[in-house]
Amino acid sequence: MSGTDSVSLRALVLAPNGRDASLTVQLLKGIDVRAEICPDLSAMAVEMRRGAGMLIIAEEAVRTEQWAPVHEFLAAQPTWSDLPIILLTHRGGGPDRNPAAVRLGELLGNVSFLERPFHPVTLHSMVRAAARGRRRQYDARQRLEERERLIAELAVERSALSDLTRTLEQRVAERTALLTREVAAREKAQEQLLQSQKMESVGKLTGGIAHDFNNLLMAVMSNLELLRKRLPDEPGIRRLIDGAMQGAQRGSSLTQRMLAFARQQDLKTMSADLGALVRGMLELLHRSLGPQIALRLHIEPGLPPAEVDAQQVELAVLNLAINARDAMPDGGAIDVVVDQARTPGDAHLSPGNYLRIRIRDEGCGMDPATLSRAVEPFFSTKPLGKGTGLGLSMTHGLAVQMGGHLDLSSAPGAGTVATLWMPMATRPPVEPAVPAAPAATATATAAVGVNRTARILVVDDDPLIAMSTADMLEDLGYAVIEADSGKRALEIIAAGQAIDLMMTDQAMPGMTGIQLAELVRSKRPELPVLLATGYTDLPAGKMANLPRLSKPYQQAQLQAEIEKLLDVR
Ligand SMILES: Nc1ncnc2c1ncn2[C@@H]1O[C@H](COP(=O)(O)OP(=O)(O)O)[C@@H](O)[C@H]1O
Ligand SMILES: [Mg+2]
Repeated sequence: MSGTDSVSLRALVLAPNGRDASLTVQLLKGIDVRAEICPDLSAMAVEMRRGAGMLIIAEEAVRTEQWAPVHEFLAAQPTWSDLPIILLTHRGGGPDRNPAAVRLGELLGNVSFLERPFHPVTLHSMVRAAARGRRRQYDARQRLEERERLIAELAVERSALSDLTRTLEQRVAERTALLTREVAAREKAQEQLLQSQKMESVGKLTGGIAHDFNNLLMAVMSNLELLRKRLPDEPGIRRLIDGAMQGAQRGSSLTQRMLAFARQQDLKTMSADLGALVRGMLELLHRSLGPQIALRLHIEPGLPPAEVDAQQVELAVLNLAINARDAMPDGGAIDVVVDQARTPGDAHLSPGNYLRIRIRDEGCGMDPATLSRAVEPFFSTKPLGKGTGLGLSMTHGLAVQMGGHLDLSSAPGAGTVATLWMPMATRPPVEPAVPAAPAATATATAAVGVNRTARILVVDDDPLIAMSTADMLEDLGYAVIEADSGKRALEIIAAGQAIDLMMTDQAMPGMTGIQLAELVRSKRPELPVLLATGYTDLPAGKMANLPRLSKPYQQAQLQAEIEKLLDVR
């Protein structure tokens, strides 16, 4: 038996009179049960707290009121414990004849009575039974403690599990949110791609139509002009021709806007101060917008110049301002903001510094469907005859062709902001000047001495254009040689024909006007070349400065250009 076990199973004996105590201890030693004698009840109460297997108490040792400390201990026992007590009674004082002992039994709980004098065997068997009972109580305690430990462990595990569940839910929620954002971003990118592909194909279509149309108008206008000269100068006839001419001119300005949308405009970019540009438009804007519109300019001081086609930007600003006015039929304010901004780059703009002109109105705004189509050519919500649907499309095309972007933000009832992003110039602003081609200057001197009608080689693959241009030139008194391709023109030059000037179309199958000019320049560097451009995006390079004439042109413009190149005074 270990020390602890012997304490927890020991018998505490209280029998102050006679030899009862020593006898009991002696007898218990015989069955290997440790017994300790306590001098009084309070000493016994102290020992009980240290541990005990049973109490053996002589009835006469204590008076009823002295039981309190033992009773307190017994009453405070944990559920598993019910300390056995053997009460030594007097001879003939068994429970049936001793009501005080019965009351004591009820008060103390697990009490057995042993009448003195007792036979040692009876004591042995009672002590053994008490020890067995106490051992079972200790077993129960162990099981209880084990159960409690398990429950505590379970509780710890359960709380860990619930923590895990909670963080798992949180992680799932975070991941879901991330995926949702990714999907939304991907959908938006796809939508933008689709939109830009649509604009791309509409642009190609529009550009093609505008180009063909431009050539037709060219033929119509030049022939009308020649007709005007040849027909008698009667008011009736003049009115008809003027009417036809005006119609053709309106058609021509329409094709210009279509070409702008298709980004096939012949742009003349230069370094320009946008603040000065907008300030210079103030008068024009006031006149175009009317008295109901308050115009407010906000121009950031010290802005760097932008690389733009100033004339086209003016046109774009005017268009945006007119759209803003149309959105405010009862009047309102338009803010024009000129500033600079940096962008990290996106689908439309490469990263860098840009200049911006923003036109903000407080008008009706656009719903998402209108906003998504606003830039399409010919898309207009305005009544027939009021809108052409080309304002935003040409502004958009212009912005993109210059290396910028048109950004629209709008919501119904919240007004609209149209932002024109334009690239910063790398050179200081200059006064727009068309530099004369060196060859043209060289020939000018040569041409002065030519004492005969100048001969002009006209190169164009479109017979209608070639014919009308030739007609206009001949009408001006020049001799004309026609060629329907660059190849043919080279043959004519190689044959050594006397030619004073070559005028060529730019867009031709096989060889472009610029390619032709380059080849001609290597053979006849002094020959002036005039490039007729309808729509093409002219490549940069040494030929970019060739004198140009935009189609459709009128006879007076043609005459001015030719005379400049031949230096006719
Ligand atoms: N500032 C604006 N406020 C509200 N709607 C606008 C604004 N600018 C353009 N829009 C819408 O975009 C359409 C297309 O504009 P635009 O290309 O300039 O053609 P148009 O002005 O000839 O209709 C307009 O018809 C209008 O519905
Ligand atoms: Mg418009």
